[in-house]
Order: sequence, then C-alpha cells, then structure tokens
Amino acid sequence: MRIAMIGSGYVGLVSGACLADFGHDVTCIDKDAAKIEALKQNQIPIFEPGLEALVASNVRAGRLSFTTEFEGPVAAADVVFIAVGTPSRRGDGHADLSYVYAAAREIALAVKGFTVVVTKSTVPVGTGDEVERVIREANPDADVAVVSNPEFLREGAAIADFKRPDRIVVGLDGDRGKEAMSEVYRPLYLNQAPILFTSRRSSELIKYAANAFLAMKITFINEMADLCESVGADVQAVSRGIGLDNRIGSKFLHAGPGYGGSCFPKDTIALVKTAQDQGTPLRLIETTVSINDQRKRAMARKVIQASGGEIRGKKVAILGLTFKPNTDDMREAPSLSIIQALQDAGARVSAFDPEGMEPARQLLGGVDYASDAYDAAQDADVLVIVTEWDVFRALDLKRLKAAMKSPLMVDLRNIYRRDDVVREGFRYVSIGRPG
Ligand code: UGA
Repeated sequence: MRIAMIGSGYVGLVSGACLADFGHDVTCIDKDAAKIEALKQNQIPIFEPGLEALVASNVRAGRLSFTTEFEGPVAAADVVFIAVGTPSRRGDGHADLSYVYAAAREIALAVKGFTVVVTKSTVPVGTGDEVERVIREANPDADVAVVSNPEFLREGAAIADFKRPDRIVVGLDGDRGKEAMSEVYRPLYLNQAPILFTSRRSSELIKYAANAFLAMKITFINEMADLCESVGADVQAVSRGIGLDNRIGSKFLHAGPGYGGSCFPKDTIALVKTAQDQGTPLRLIETTVSINDQRKRAMARKVIQASGGEIRGKKVAILGLTFKPNTDDMREAPSLSIIQALQDAGARVSAFDPEGMEPARQLLGGVDYASDAYDAAQDADVLVIVTEWDVFRALDLKRLKAAMKSPLMVDLRNIYRRDDVVREGFRYVSIGRPG
C-alpha cells in the first residue's frame, strides 16, 4: 500500500516507521523543513527507544521517505493519515483542531482517485464529520472515505505498542475504506491483534474513554495510597490484591506522584469539556482531573513534612524530571509542580535526569542541573525520587549517604524496599507504605 503520513511528530513518525517496517511504502510529510532535513540525515527529533534504528533500516530499504512536499505523495497514496498536533486551546481547554482541518483542506485539493483519509490524531467526537465536510467543501469531486483510527501508543514503548497492540480500532460510517484499512493492518491481525470496526464517532470516543479510564485508575490507587498511609496498610499489597481480579486487572495500579505527560492531562480535560457542552457531565473524570492537579503540589508538602516541616535554606536533590522514564518529555511532569512548590518554600534544588535536562532547562529556572545522581545528592538534606528511571533503581546507597548532608530519601515511585534503605542508615519515606 502507498501511505502518506501528514505530520512527522511523535505519532506520525512512530506510525510511519512501523507501517514501513510492515512492508508498506510510506512518505512522512511535514511543513517544518528543518525537521524533514534532519530526518533525512536520520536525526530523530524525539527520544524513543528503537526508533532511530527502525527509521534508518526502512529508509535504507526504500520504504520510508521524508518530504515537505504535499501534493505528489498525497496524490499517489491509497491511504492518507492525518497525524498532526491537537494541542489544548488556550483559554478553554478544548482540543485545537486548526492543524487537522488545514491538513484536510490540503488533502482535498491533492487527492487523485479513491483515497482513504484517516485521522490518527486524538480528536473530539464529531471531528471526522467535520473533516469530511471540509474536504467536500474544498473539492466536491474528491473521492474519499474518512476514517477514525486512534493510536494507543505509550511514549517509551511506542514501537512495541504499535507492533503488538491489544487492539486496533477503526471507525467508519459505511463500508468504504474497510478493505484498505484491513490491508494496512493485515500484518498485525495475522499476529492475533483484534481489529474492531465500529462507527466513526464511537471510535473517536474510545480513544478518550480509554485514556480517561486509565487516568481514573491511577488516581484511584493514588487516593488509596493516601488512605494506606493513614491506616498503616501497604498500597502495593492492595494493588496486587485487587489487580489479580481479572475484572480489575493489575496494570496502571502503581501509586505515584500523579500522572503527567502530553496525553492524560490534555485528553481528560478535553473530554470533560465535550461532556459539559453536551449537558452530560462526566463527574468522575472532572474529579480525577482536580485530584491529580492537587496531588502534584501535595508531593512537595510530603517532602517538606519528611524534612521536619521546614525546607527553607535546605538543599533538595531531585532524581528524575520527565513525566515517566524512557522519554525526554517534560509536559505536565509532576517534577515541575514539585520543584516550583519547593522553591516557593525556600528550598535550593539540584536535579538529574538521564534525558530530560535540556527540556527542563527551558521550563525550570534556579535549578542546579547535576551530572549524575551522586552529583545531585552532594550536600543535600533530602533526596527525592520523582521518576523511576532504571539508573535510579540500584543506586550505591553508601556512596549516596556519604555525599548527602543528611541521609533522607523520599521515594515517590516506590522503587526501593524500606529495609534495604534503612539498613544503610537512611530515613525513608515512600508512597502508601507503612513506616
Ligand atoms: C498514554 C496511554 O497509556 C497510551 O495508551 C496513549 O496512547 C497515550 O497516552 C496517548 O494518548 O497518546 P503515555 O502518556 O505515553 O501514554 O504514558 P503512560 O505510560 O500511560 O503514563 C502516563 C502517566 O501515568 C505517567 O506520568 C506515569 O508515571 C503515570 N502512571 C502510569 C502512574 O502514575 N501509575 C501507573 O500505574 C501507570
């Protein structure tokens, strides 16, 4: 199949490279000439494990190419994916669809012959209808089927998620486009991945409902962790105990400092807005959003409390800045709220993150960026683990203790066992665990 991917950001690049790897002929298009030039040199603008090698091998095989040119590749394509950004609109929290509609207009003018136009960007319910309207308005002769095909990729695990998905969701009204979409994903369902064909609106909602449910699940266990602390129970035991029930499932029950990233915060707010506009508010999700926001700052209070109630003039070493490991993404990262709140309370902050230091510098002033965990911990009064990067899982505790002014560890990801840390002479505070 000939595929044009509009937008070479995170979703477009990962999807394009994976589809090329299945043997399709993929052209990734982006308006950003510098980005396309870099991609042609195999410089990948995002940090995603395995992506660089995947892009390189498919470019070499002649199945994947990059261009700023729109018309030619779209005219030649059987399937055109729209994978442009849908940022939160300033002011009202709705998804900003201007890039999606601009792409639809350009596609309308470029297509030749029957073409399937697929929205892969996360878009509110009804956007497919609007994309179809925009295309028909721009070019009444365009022969297109407009399809919704949301992505469920996790940053840091995106290639595995694309190649071995739990399911593929395809939303289309009528049968046109079904055959082409089956062909696009044939290599996957030969691997047993179920492909769910549904209506376009249902498909659009599935994406938001899935992210909202996962955000709610995390928030549930985070609140349960607070209760565990009050009653002397262990949240990890509670997670395991409920997660073994197949109806609940064990994933996304890891308590922490609150969810971040570019998806859960943005998508939950957009869904809440849509539901409010429709007069059918989603109160569970409204509450999830507000609990999660408060939780991030509450983590700073936890650090202050662990430090004896006063942090002014003290040095706090932060390990991990990105919203989760294996990414350089700082969007809505808990570290941002935590560090700002600690600075507001008068703390000095040093920090180390394997990939997030450059993006963090743009967002956080007054932080002393260290060269590794031990450098960050030098003369610190308290060490806080904010992101569970693998390199923080087996720190040399003796070396850490020798570097610190006072040996206090606040582990917001529960990656250590209390006994192991206490044995080395640390005071240890974690999330939802006794002691
Ligand atoms: C999320 C979804 O997991 C993907 O399925 C979806 O495709 C993607 O959003 C999207 O809409 O594009 P992502 O934001 O990359 O993926 O990251 P997750 O691995 O889901 O983690 C999100 C946040 O939840 C992180 O801050 C993480 O630390 C937190 N989390 C996750 C927990 O605190 N506890 C958990 O048990 C799991």
